[in-house]
Amino acid sequence: MISLNVSERSSTISYAIRDVVEYARKLESKGDQILKLNIGDPLKFDFNTPEPMVDAIINAAKTNFNGYEDSLGNPELRKIIAERESKNNGKIYFEDVVITSGVTEGVQLVFGATLEPGDEVLVPGPGYPTYTSYATFFGANPITYRTIESENWNIDVEDLKSKITNNTKCIVLINPNNPTGAMYKKKCLEEILDIAIDYDLFIISDEIYDRISFNNSFVSPASMTDEVPILTFNGISKIYLAPGWRVGYMAFYNWDTLFEIKEGIMKELRARIAANSICQVGAIEAYKSCEKYVVEMVSKLKERSEFAYKRLNEIPGISTTKPMGGLYIFPKVELEKRWKDDKEFVYEFLRMKKVLLVHGSGFCPVYGKDHFRSVFLPTIEVMEDAFTRLEEFMKAK
Ligand SMILES: Cc1ncc(COP(=O)(O)O)c(C=O)c1O
Repeated sequence: MISLNVSERSSTISYAIRDVVEYARKLESKGDQILKLNIGDPLKFDFNTPEPMVDAIINAAKTNFNGYEDSLGNPELRKIIAERESKNNGKIYFEDVVITSGVTEGVQLVFGATLEPGDEVLVPGPGYPTYTSYATFFGANPITYRTIESENWNIDVEDLKSKITNNTKCIVLINPNNPTGAMYKKKCLEEILDIAIDYDLFIISDEIYDRISFNNSFVSPASMTDEVPILTFNGISKIYLAPGWRVGYMAFYNWDTLFEIKEGIMKELRARIAANSICQVGAIEAYKSCEKYVVEMVSKLKERSEFAYKRLNEIPGISTTKPMGGLYIFPKVELEKRWKDDKEFVYEFLRMKKVLLVHGSGFCPVYGKDHFRSVFLPTIEVMEDAFTRLEEFMKAK
């Protein structure tokens, strides 16, 4: 019988957002009904993919548009995205945009092309765990820079700077941030761009929630420099309500001096053949005709984020900053001696009250601990039910 060890690379991967689901599944298999506030998938709630997008992929499939797509992406889609980026951020050309199977594939590709064992990547703490997982997967060390809760989770630029070493390759920005809902101001981004210039670093700017901004304050660093190499990540998963279609993109800004890395990414893109063909047709429709659905969704989410912020702050032992964008709220819990840590808190709340959250330390063991993440995607009635259960749970212990 064959015996093989799992590679060290893959055994390092962890993803708190999904891990906690395993425990919920066990409860469900025993007949429990779980209210899931753990995952940033609008389709699990009262949001639907815009109809014109759905019609577009049905039509594409029926007209036999089912072959392999170009490795770098559907040319029409790349052109539309180059126009979108040029209009919103900074002038960019068709050749600077490539289509990936979601932002997640983009993360793998860029780290695959840039990181060697021992390299360091600066990631936000707390932050979306994919960056940490894939940096580790490629043998590099993710180094967490602090974000400050009392300043609406703004970036501690001094801390970020102090963590740069000779091994640092890039700075990851997640803006608006998952899980904190922070939106970074121009001044903060300016300071980070200056640091990138001083230390010869490139920037990854994850802008998957760019349009989900509650006071229209989103600024992309790509709109502010023609010097710093920036790789902007975005896609249709959140804004156009199609996470299952797996369509994202990378836009290369100011990448002239890093052309070899760009070519490395192109080679990786060719080796993995292509992103989904018909879903890219759906994405073309999204960017062409679905603006009104985005406006509707953002207005619904704004109301829900305000409810979550107000209601959670009413609960003794819970306090939270106000999300400025995205899909998440990241409250602090006074654990005192009641729970060993945020993970125990989340698991016990699940067991007792059948509501699934994600423990904050899953987003950063240092700056995320003693917190949890909830989505504010459900209707106000559903959130009221969930947060009332949380209030009862806090009071009972
Ligand atoms: C910050 C951030 N980036 C990327 C993703 C995943 O994007 P995609 O569905 O395009 O792979 C998520 C999903 O939650 C996210 O929060």
